[in-house]
Amino acid sequence: MINIAIMGFGTVGSGVAEVLTKNHDSIARKCGEDIRIKYILDLRDFPDSPFADRVIKDFELIEKDDDIKVVVECLGGLHPSYEFVKRCLLSGKSVSTSNKELIAEKGDELLQIAKDNNLNLLFEASVGGGIPIIRPLDQCLAANEVYEIAGILNGTTNFIMTKMIREQMPFEQALKLAQELGYAERDPSADVDGDDACRKICILASLAFGRHVFPSQCYTEGISKITLEDVEYAAQIGGVIKLIGRCKKLPDGRVTLMVAPTIVMRSCQLANVEDVFNAILVRGDAIGDVVFYGRGAGKLPTASAVVADVMDCVKHLNRRKYLFWEKGAPDYVADYREWETSLYVRASSFDAEAAFEKAKEIFGEDIRRLHREAEPAGELAFVTGKDTEIVLMQRMRIYENSGCSVIGCIRVCDL
Ligand code: HSE
Repeated sequence: MINIAIMGFGTVGSGVAEVLTKNHDSIARKCGEDIRIKYILDLRDFPDSPFADRVIKDFELIEKDDDIKVVVECLGGLHPSYEFVKRCLLSGKSVSTSNKELIAEKGDELLQIAKDNNLNLLFEASVGGGIPIIRPLDQCLAANEVYEIAGILNGTTNFIMTKMIREQMPFEQALKLAQELGYAERDPSADVDGDDACRKICILASLAFGRHVFPSQCYTEGISKITLEDVEYAAQIGGVIKLIGRCKKLPDGRVTLMVAPTIVMRSCQLANVEDVFNAILVRGDAIGDVVFYGRGAGKLPTASAVVADVMDCVKHLNRRKYLFWEKGAPDYVADYREWETSLYVRASSFDAEAAFEKAKEIFGEDIRRLHREAEPAGELAFVTGKDTEIVLMQRMRIYENSGCSVIGCIRVCDL
């Protein structure tokens, strides 16, 4: 019998208890041990829960109990998760966590502590919810030089964009629905502003390229400025707007990454990923393209990944699984603006025809004008040719200084 503790009894933590209970026998058969939940750490009481008698409020009970071999961390946020996970590792306990903020900010340090103490720190659930991606990237694709990853990494924003695209549902209404369904973060601005996806692409970049990438090194833009008009114009070029997290390895060994709303062509697999589903496209030199797809958020899908990590920890109690990356460095991440892209631009002007002629002068003759139904006079939308973002933004400033007011612009994906 192996005793474990769960820290945090919210959506994911209670899902972990539910899966461990419901599938107890098959889990025991697969890992050769009975797994028993001894403690549940939470500041709240759960008098109606079947686990009510195991709820504790004092972390030290877990830390000092040598009987606890594996700890599940589902508290979310950086504090006190970081301190608690560190203390668990220092007191000889392996950890399974769903906490992307923790791994994105402190992964290098915590992985080093796990390594020094011959323990496992596993975090499959931190990216893509229930989708297996961490283990496949680390193990099944280990023979590859992975050189690019692009993904829809946030279920809430994908749900919102799907509602906006399919049902022309206003943003606020779609967000409220996502919250009711338990997809959103405690503070949904982490979803909407792209921070959640940023943490996830940082974890994938750290793992794929072997060196820690911090969220502060990743250019991040959310979806809150996307309008139903943008959705309509994107459809005109055969695309849909998705929040895409992307990272690349450069020939000089550095990496570049960003999270931003992006127009993805319908022909790309990521375009057809809808609702709360996530998908992650990995490009490796031997495998080519491989796409991982599934439920990226929600109680049981996320618990599925956490429990699998608990089982892996139980199966490797005195052995380390090799899951590790080196410390980060400020000059390791290149300027995202060196990335080449096309831009969709929406602008307004007293005279849309003259503004389009001006756009051709500044961005080049190859820009393509877009139209939508019931387009108001003075509105103008176009797609530029491809160039580095540094060059395109310089042109954008010249365009704005020429009297055209840019309402918004979105990168057009070349995946
Ligand atoms: N809020 C996150 C999402 C949960 O919507 O994807 C899973 O990380």
